[in-house]
Amino acid sequence: MATIKVKKLKSIPAEITVPGDKSISHRSVMFAGLAKGTTIIDGFLPSEDCLCTVKAMQSLGAEIEPLEEIEGIGLVKLAVTGTGRKLKQPESFVECGNSGTTMRLLSGILAGQPFTTELRGDESLSRRPMKRIADPLELMGAKVEGNGMSICAPLRITGGSLHPITYTLPMASAQVKSAVLLAGMLAPGKTTVIESVPTRNHTESLMTHFGVKWYRKGDEVTVYGNQEPQPNDMSVPGDISSAAFWMVAAAASPDSQITIRNVGLNPTRTGVINVLLRMGAQVTQSDEKDDGEPFGNVVVKGGELNGTHIGGTEISNVIDELPILAVAAALARGNTLISDAQELRVKETDRIAAVAKNLRAMGVNVQEFDDGMEIEGGAKLQGATIETYGDHRIAMAFAIAGMFAEGQTIIEGAECIATSYPGFENDLNRFMGGDSESAAIPVLSRVPRKVGERLSIKKEAE
Ligand code: S3P
Repeated sequence: MATIKVKKLKSIPAEITVPGDKSISHRSVMFAGLAKGTTIIDGFLPSEDCLCTVKAMQSLGAEIEPLEEIEGIGLVKLAVTGTGRKLKQPESFVECGNSGTTMRLLSGILAGQPFTTELRGDESLSRRPMKRIADPLELMGAKVEGNGMSICAPLRITGGSLHPITYTLPMASAQVKSAVLLAGMLAPGKTTVIESVPTRNHTESLMTHFGVKWYRKGDEVTVYGNQEPQPNDMSVPGDISSAAFWMVAAAASPDSQITIRNVGLNPTRTGVINVLLRMGAQVTQSDEKDDGEPFGNVVVKGGELNGTHIGGTEISNVIDELPILAVAAALARGNTLISDAQELRVKETDRIAAVAKNLRAMGVNVQEFDDGMEIEGGAKLQGATIETYGDHRIAMAFAIAGMFAEGQTIIEGAECIATSYPGFENDLNRFMGGDSESAAIPVLSRVPRKVGERLSIKKEAE
């Protein structure tokens, strides 16, 4: 088991660049793999989760060639050659590892394929509810079998002749919305998803990028059926969910300033900036560009933070940032209430319980509710041994907390960080003085390789 020994924050680096956006990386390979022809994807996130999607699409017939790697991070540029919307039946089960996005979105694609596929996941993923995608996909005519009432993995998906539906999301979930839209794209007619609370819209922006016709009317998203994505090269911006760790570290350090370069600034994902602004942080966006997905630099100046209320429709916009925002709340003056966040209980772990337990271990008073927690800010954080429960965002959030604590913080089970942020430890070392050996790895030195020189798409999920 990997551990990280967190040292006290030494200084905030002037600049940092985070790896590619996880949600966009998954979707880029899925759409490219469903297109006939080659798409070059740059800025790809080579995390364990996204590599599961790469391997899944390979096993379904897409050819994927590595083009460029960054030392210490991995494959960031790849060429995906799809054979069109009719995929090949995989020879064996498809391993989704820890990745809910792989399993749920792929289920939508497989619902449109005339064969049966088994999708497996690790222990954590096999506990997460898949009924939420099984219900609409079965309404469309697919068969989705899984374990128990919650239809847990392993899943057996038998697709084929689908029919379109209009489906109201029972919970705010971009994964469920995307599964239905992907199946709808492969079904005849028009499929509509109604979302009363807006969720991240990367599937929609990538449908546009890959030439798939769809439209939004109020809270309804409609995709036309029988469509095949068209290949189209693309760049993935940095992941704002990864940037959030450094945003909070800087925001809570008076007299500091950090510029995080090339961060995705899709308004369905920038809630973390709004919350930090409300807490009194100085956050600005600069050099904004838009190539289908908005991106730019985020500049954070440190100061005093104040408690706030995070709840209501804002939750889906900050769902992955709530663990690090809870750490920001502990470092702020006054109390912070997180409400309406019951979805946190069905993430990679129960993030309400995990955050509350670890904050308490560091000396913070936390009251836990079914749908959130109240955090008493202003306590002096004490170093502690942190249990990650195999959840990458818990590990990283508490590595940041550890830099603000007296005494040592040890993150146990830190290997889960590879789920979403390869290179995190190197970046963390830059905040802790950069005197550990791994900090010597140049994070942004691009090591171009000739096409096909080395296939680095390893099978680590098996
Ligand atoms: C994601 C959607 C969110 C998020 C997850 C990625 C996506 O999940 O928590 O990390 O890429 O669509 P839900 O759809 O379950 O809210």
